[in-house]
Amino acid sequence: MATASGHYFFMHAPISSVLFVCLGNLCRSPTAHAVLTGMARQQQCNIRIDSAGTSPYHKGSLPDARTREAGQARGYSFKGQRSRPVLDEDFARFDLVLAMDKHNLRDLQERCPAEYQHKVKLFLEYTEQEELEVPDPYYGGRQGFELVLDLIEQGCEVLLSKAKR
Ligand code: 4NP
Repeated sequence: MATASGHYFFMHAPISSVLFVCLGNLCRSPTAHAVLTGMARQQQCNIRIDSAGTSPYHKGSLPDARTREAGQARGYSFKGQRSRPVLDEDFARFDLVLAMDKHNLRDLQERCPAEYQHKVKLFLEYTEQEELEVPDPYYGGRQGFELVLDLIEQGCEVLLSKAKR
């Protein structure tokens, strides 16, 4: 934006809504949804949070039982969550659309209108973590679900601090 003196500055639009996206909306994005909801409540940060899957396959299902067990053990609630696919209107309705891995990112970028492409990012890259992707835990053991929680907790701390700026 140009000021009266002809200088340019960049506006940092406030973040008031976030959509987390993974493949099935059963494991990773529901975890991010639950973790950010818990942290936002604790820090009294008013932010609209939702999650969705690039695949519609599990539409209507509860988050994965292993995801709920691991998350609840750390004090997070999955209340009200049901899997849903990403909708075309999500790109307009959310300030940020954050993908859990590069495959999810590519799927989102392919269907996102040009005017909203700037909202679509890798969650861990946006939150300045060393790892870029949250690995899919679906076919693995319990450790994978703990790693998902570790990565998401670290990312969500940064995300909230950015939202509050
Ligand atoms: P998510 O995990 O993308 O983190 O929810 C998965 C859930 C379901 C499947 C794969 C990954 N699936 O193949 O059904």
